[in-house]
Amino acid sequence: MTLQIKSLKQYKKVYQESVDNPEQFWAEQAATFQWQKKWDKVLSWDFKKPDVKWFEGGKMNITENCLDRHLKDRADQTAILWEPNDPNAKTVKYSYQDLYEEVCRFGNALRAKGIKKGDRVCFYMPMVAELAIGVLACARIGAVHSVVFAGFSATALADRIKDASCKMVICSDYNARGAKNIPVKQVVDEAMLQGCTSVETVIVHKNTGGKVNWEPARDVWWSDAVYRRQKHCKPAAMSSEDMLFILYTSGSTGKPKGVVHTCGGYMVYTCFSFKNVFQYEKGDVYWCTADIGWITGHSYIVYGPLLAGATTMMFEGVPTYPDAGRFWQICEKHKVNQFYTAPTAIRALMAKGDEYVEKYDLSDLKVIGSVGEPINVEAWNWYNEKVGKGNAPIVDTWWQTETGGIMITPLPGITDTKPCYASYPMPGIQPILVDSQGVLVEGNDVEGLLCVKFPWPSMIRTTYGDHERCRQVYFSSFENMYFTGDGCRRDSEGRLRIIGRVDDVINVSGHRMGTAEVENAINEHPAVIESAVVGYPHDIKGQGIFAYIIAQEGTVGDAGFEKSIRDVVVKEIGPIAKPDKMLVVPGLPKTRSGKIMRRILRKIASGDASNLGDISTLLNPDVVAVIKEAAGV
Ligand code: PRX
Repeated sequence: MTLQIKSLKQYKKVYQESVDNPEQFWAEQAATFQWQKKWDKVLSWDFKKPDVKWFEGGKMNITENCLDRHLKDRADQTAILWEPNDPNAKTVKYSYQDLYEEVCRFGNALRAKGIKKGDRVCFYMPMVAELAIGVLACARIGAVHSVVFAGFSATALADRIKDASCKMVICSDYNARGAKNIPVKQVVDEAMLQGCTSVETVIVHKNTGGKVNWEPARDVWWSDAVYRRQKHCKPAAMSSEDMLFILYTSGSTGKPKGVVHTCGGYMVYTCFSFKNVFQYEKGDVYWCTADIGWITGHSYIVYGPLLAGATTMMFEGVPTYPDAGRFWQICEKHKVNQFYTAPTAIRALMAKGDEYVEKYDLSDLKVIGSVGEPINVEAWNWYNEKVGKGNAPIVDTWWQTETGGIMITPLPGITDTKPCYASYPMPGIQPILVDSQGVLVEGNDVEGLLCVKFPWPSMIRTTYGDHERCRQVYFSSFENMYFTGDGCRRDSEGRLRIIGRVDDVINVSGHRMGTAEVENAINEHPAVIESAVVGYPHDIKGQGIFAYIIAQEGTVGDAGFEKSIRDVVVKEIGPIAKPDKMLVVPGLPKTRSGKIMRRILRKIASGDASNLGDISTLLNPDVVAVIKEAAGV
């Protein structure tokens, strides 16, 4: 069984062992899983290339560990508890036996459609159980899944399908979200018209049952694809370092990149971190409200919980439908023991008033978690008092798409908690702070750039189709370190607090976005000459999107213009990237080498234009006063 730490003394001991002898530590953890063939070498690594290999020579299949392994002693236990959008519709339960059979059937269906080991399969689906089944079926036969969040536009979806040359797309007909019924298949149809020539088959799951267009040579209903398929499916023999999945995420520059995770190390780390961070015990009901379109859903709705034999809930809907009590109503209904959500959701629900949370019995909650963005003190206190009732420790978990699993977090009931502090590293994780020159920032009560100096099993291996980009973005800033892109503070007692991104990435409602990506979308507008996007503090979203726009002469920056800009962004990326505020300006502050001085724009966007620093070195210092005036600051 995977190690579950139970005391502070044990945490300290295990942490020290994991640093002193990492290979032995992770080999012991890995040995608790089912391997088709044991590994020859625990770890080899070179951050310069980067080239990181865990459990080399080992053969395994992650689904044997998520499913087959549990059939002996928990075949009838609920694996997935699916809660629909409609509060009056029935919850659906999949036992481990059911899930095993559904995954096998769909795995056989994929094979019958010509999907082979190594082929890429794209998912564009709402939070239905079939998404988890489909992802696991890919892993079963060794296909690589690439899940695209179903809020992205057809163009964004097409970009991701083309980047990974996906052979198949799996989608739903519609997505039931609150009072809306969103036409998902229609978005896939539109994406297909944008040069997705690698796609041979589109499998469509009937969710709400609305009308859809049909390409008979290409489209297949899910129910037809699985019809009469066997309920056993031979698991592919995967090497530890074979690709498990690709997940696209935004960076400072260019288009989103496909972060690649591999089988063996990801399996070991997601299970280990799940069991320890949530202190899951047999019989508990665990609920993570994330979407499987993001890494949190991959690691802590699907893989981590199922590897640990847990009951994991999937929720189709939104926190405010039919009202702002929905999360708490579901917690009461299913006696949820561990609840994991994002600060944005907490802030949004807090703003609706306490009566929604006070109505429900939340006494089964043992651990409550936060992820995706810094949590502010007010939200932390509200979460602690109103949801956890002071009895359920908050685990403020810091990690990233690239890290695969939770890196820095309190362990509930074991290490202490402090508002806004992700606190302490997980065993096996060696975070360090450096200054801009890469010099180690030691001691306590200090700030620096957050790096990790030693490999961990679930770390990024490459960016799909462009290894150099992976090296450049994560491993070139500082020698022999993985650079996270986050700033971090260490308090007087050694706890870590994540301050936020230090690069041109913004975090809007916990969604990570590259400012360049949003600018490129805005620049598609025919009346836009140039744009600059920055984040600014937003009460609910954490950060909002502020766009400075240089428009063609004669353009009026009125509501009609702003709407047309938002429409372009929705078409290019999706509604999550819509600017909250826009300002038409005559120019942008630039350095003599032509680089936009975002520092100045960020300050003005935050409403505080005092202390803009030295602007005399700008190419066009006069423009600053004009922008300030236009912004009214
Ligand atoms: O800036 C950090 C922030 O989210 C970034 C990673 O985003 P993404 O890859 O989308 O993964 C989100 C879910 C794991 C980080 O670089 N972030 C994540 N968790 C926290 C956080 N910032 C502060 N506190 C956290 N707990």
